Amino acid sequence: MVLSAGRLALARLAAHALAALPLAWLAWLIASDGLGADPVVAITRFSGLWALRFLLASLAITPLRHLTGLPALIHFRRMLGLWAFAWASLHLSAYVVLDLGGYWTQILEDIVERPYITVGFLAWLGLLPLALTSTRAMMRRLGRHWGRLHKLVYAIAVLAVLHFWWLVKADLREPSFYAVALALLLGIRLARGRAQPRLQPVARGP
Ligand code: HEM
Repeated sequence: MVLSAGRLALARLAAHALAALPLAWLAWLIASDGLGADPVVAITRFSGLWALRFLLASLAITPLRHLTGLPALIHFRRMLGLWAFAWASLHLSAYVVLDLGGYWTQILEDIVERPYITVGFLAWLGLLPLALTSTRAMMRRLGRHWGRLHKLVYAIAVLAVLHFWWLVKADLREPSFYAVALALLLGIRLARGRAQPRLQPVARGP
């Protein structure tokens, strides 16, 4: 199914409106004092979880394209990736500004001394060049290197799940859920890559 330019713009707007819901939810929780006893930890956790969810959702686009036969889904991959980056940046800012407060340089010590922060930081650092090169102009400029660079997203997702896994002390059910989801997405991708040639790329909007 090929979407006309008008329909695509509408679908994009609707997708952004949907993707903005967790942000509205967080704003409402903050405004209504609904974040519980430790609002800073609640904001850090909320933003970390949504960063991971958007990241995995962006990875799910390619298998979904194959499964549904809807190549137009590709138009939403970049959007999901950028939302993941935005949530990850909010997460990092919440930690540095709200958690560390005046002692923000402590982040450097944390990166060196606390492995789960090291891994989280590497994940965020990996997302940075992907976000910066997500425009069509950069795609054209980088040519085939663009695809290679953006394969980094798989390593970033592994780091993000590892970060979550590492920081949870007792109940591993939630990080396990994301680890299984990621393993499935990577497994489908690998199996597909071996079995069949890739779908033809679809020109993406601005
Ligand atoms: C420099 C980068 C990062 C720092 C400093 C950082 C820091 C933290 C901290 C301190 C927590 C624990 C909050 C608490 O329970 O007290 C946390 C949780 C978490 N972070 Fe990060 N993080 C970083 C990057 C990332 C990235 C890139 C992702 C995902 C793409 C991510 C996903 C998560 C998740 C899923 C949680 C657990 C949320 C929960 O407990 O429900 N983090 N992070």
